Amino acid sequence: MKIVYESNTGHTKKYAEMLAKKLNLPCESLKEYKEDYKEVIYLGWVMAGMIKGYSKIKNKAKLTMVIGVGLMPDKEEELIKNNNITCKFYFLPGGVDYSKLKWFKKNLLKAVGKSFEQQGNKELALLIQNGGSLVDEKHLTEIVKYIDTLKGEK
Ligand SMILES: Cc1cc2nc3c(=O)[nH]c(=O)nc-3n(C[C@H](O)[C@H](O)[C@H](O)COP(=O)(O)O)c2cc1C
Repeated sequence: MKIVYESNTGHTKKYAEMLAKKLNLPCESLKEYKEDYKEVIYLGWVMAGMIKGYSKIKNKAKLTMVIGVGLMPDKEEELIKNNNITCKFYFLPGGVDYSKLKWFKKNLLKAVGKSFEQQGNKELALLIQNGGSLVDEKHLTEIVKYIDTLKGEK
């Protein structure tokens, strides 16, 4: 088993590397991906409801788990449906780093932030406005437990 990820500004990469360390598994980006391991845990950042890179990896690997890294909570079911995910799925909270975002994505995200402000979700609106990270090792606890159970079954 190995970990493969696609990250735009680094939050997903951080989670992938943390998870690789905890599970003692190799880790590589989707660009580097070679079909040498049968089972893959895939992490992709979420953009406009789509898990980036998932459509590429799904035909090339046996996916044990897919993890979407994004900002909008309570959208798990929508993400599973929109992306046609058929394996175990987890959502992890990522972050915003404006120094690494190109202007188009920056403006798109700012517009999303405005809509959260209008919906009254001040916390998320502020995070999007000012940037910041929600990445934390503690969010990986359940995932590590799940993978350890699978390893135990083999
Ligand atoms: C243009 C754009 C669109 C986004 N759309 C979504 C979205 O639909 N749902 C969501 O949960 N997060 C969305 N996000 C937030 C990113 O998924 C979040 O910032 C993530 O942590 C980025 O990961 P990365 O640092 O690995 O690139 C969007 C971010 C950008 C820049």
